[in-house]
Amino acid sequence: MDALTGLLDDAAALLDGAIALRRDLHAHPELGLELPRTQRAIVAALETLGLQISLGSALSSVTAILDTGRPGPTVLLRADMDALPMDEDTELDFKSTIAGTMHACGHDTHVAMLVQAAHLLVARKHELDGIVVFMFQPGEEGHGGAAIMLEEGILEAAGAIDLAFAIHATPSIPSGAIATRGGTIMASSDEFVIDVIGRGGHASTPFQALDPIPIACEIVLASQSMVTRSINAFDPAVVTVAEVKAGTTSNVIPETARLHGTIRAVSARTRGQVHANLERVATGVAHAHGATVEFNLRLGYPVTVNDATVATWCRAIARDLLGARMSFEMPAPVMGAEDFSYVLEKVPGALVFLGMCPTHLQPHEAPPNHSNRMLLEESAMANGIALYAGVALAKSAEAKMATLEPLE
Ligand code: NI
Repeated sequence: MDALTGLLDDAAALLDGAIALRRDLHAHPELGLELPRTQRAIVAALETLGLQISLGSALSSVTAILDTGRPGPTVLLRADMDALPMDEDTELDFKSTIAGTMHACGHDTHVAMLVQAAHLLVARKHELDGIVVFMFQPGEEGHGGAAIMLEEGILEAAGAIDLAFAIHATPSIPSGAIATRGGTIMASSDEFVIDVIGRGGHASTPFQALDPIPIACEIVLASQSMVTRSINAFDPAVVTVAEVKAGTTSNVIPETARLHGTIRAVSARTRGQVHANLERVATGVAHAHGATVEFNLRLGYPVTVNDATVATWCRAIARDLLGARMSFEMPAPVMGAEDFSYVLEKVPGALVFLGMCPTHLQPHEAPPNHSNRMLLEESAMANGIALYAGVALAKSAEAKMATLEPLE
């Protein structure tokens, strides 16, 4: 595609800038919805570009708009900004300087790539029609920052969005490669708390009490039978009880026992089924023993669903930019979750993974996303910069082709 000619070389020329910004953010990670330093760094890095910049109210987001002044598509490009609450255990000379905070999911690279993609697109503004919206989003790690940016009007900031696109870095894919799929790419993530309520007593005389602990244990096992017996194996779900709490000592039967865990699903239908089935199983098992449960569900991110046509189109752009061996279809979704799902519920688009496996490691042995030892191959950011920009340029070129009169 002509729109992509020379793009990878131009992106490679911006790599040093991306690495410098990435290392600065990596050394100074911030958590949650308020990332003032990160926000300042983004605004400063975009300063010379003449974009329309606005900042979030309920979170420290940055929305930057490149308006060519010519009619054409509106493309949204997104980078999340936040780090994770954990110590970093790498030997990097730009490792985190903030105790208990680490960029262990690569969001520092997302910001660095999108900033440079903005530079690249401004340099090619004469080739571009329409509008590009750059969405820099805090609070991806469980805070739902994307949903808050939607409430604050990101999708209406520059007219209707025709296409939304995001890149996520991972060391579990060979460096520089792009992987995505049509349909579900990431799971939903919900949290449950089940309190089994019995009656306390002396541990020597359980018949005078109502012991919640064996009931809670039955619920843990029954929840696994529920998944394998009632959920379609081709539309899978995971129920994990990750925390069990009950009792204080050896000779007291406690009044209550608590089960705390997560539900992952790859379709909205199965997600709803698991919610209903888990509550029914927990309640039923407890009732069978004369106990009751309090069932609490905290809804997390919905299933991340790529538009099938857009995902295929993005893979084709990656193939044209990077070569056929660097662009592949994922055979299955991953069970992690993403709040870009809220954007993809509203507008067609796709999330892709960018391989950033360090060159001295194999993808299967590289410490994965969220590891305290995660390392990323920074040179792969050139591919990410090119792809962010390439998606906007290709969408613009495609729209231009569509407006040409067909030959009679
Ligand atoms: Ni992430």
